[in-house]
Amino acid sequence: MNLKLIKGMRIVVATHNPGKVPEISALLGGNYELVTAGQLNLPEPEETESTFGGNAMLKARHAAQLSGQVALADDSGLSVAALHGAPGIFSARWAGPGKDFAVAMAKVEQRLEEIGATDRAAWFTSALALAWPDGPCVVVEGVVRGQLTFPPRGDKGFGYDPLFIAEGQTLTFGEMDPAAKDAISHRTRAFEKLKAALID
Ligand code: IMP
Repeated sequence: MNLKLIKGMRIVVATHNPGKVPEISALLGGNYELVTAGQLNLPEPEETESTFGGNAMLKARHAAQLSGQVALADDSGLSVAALHGAPGIFSARWAGPGKDFAVAMAKVEQRLEEIGATDRAAWFTSALALAWPDGPCVVVEGVVRGQLTFPPRGDKGFGYDPLFIAEGQTLTFGEMDPAAKDAISHRTRAFEKLKAALID
């Protein structure tokens, strides 16, 4: 079976957030007809796996099986070494129902203080899964390593960006121009791997 992406192919993006489509389209290099699971009225599965890759695969398989088409899903988050990888797959959930990342970032700092940790090593992971309706699924992961800094700095990014200084940088992701962050981000690295595996 041909596990390759073909130009013009329709891909279901396993998300209910239409805002993700332009970004994914650019990262894939255009050339695909992207439609979201939300537009197809597909239900969202519960993210019950314990890894980024597991959850990305679960979402991609679910969308591929229900739509009968190739489906792409992502799962991402921040992992802190001294917190044994937390918040990890719970990165979005740490911000609570109000999606308040000031709360989530304060929680990271508080947890580190509670255990008296001085190690500030952390990394962002982006897992991507591409599933075919009849079973096969390709999963890749991109990672960017760095250090946390407190208090948070910068308002250019989203999520945990103001806390994170990537290796070799002095600015946080929240202070960097989006293009500079994109050049080294976990998400860009994951898409590069996906393209290398699936595009001739
Ligand atoms: P997902 O939508 O379930 O993949 O949740 C990912 C969560 O991880 C987001 O809500 C952010 O909090 C966090 N996250 C992932 N990537 C980044 C990033 O590049 N910068 C900041 N936070 C990120």
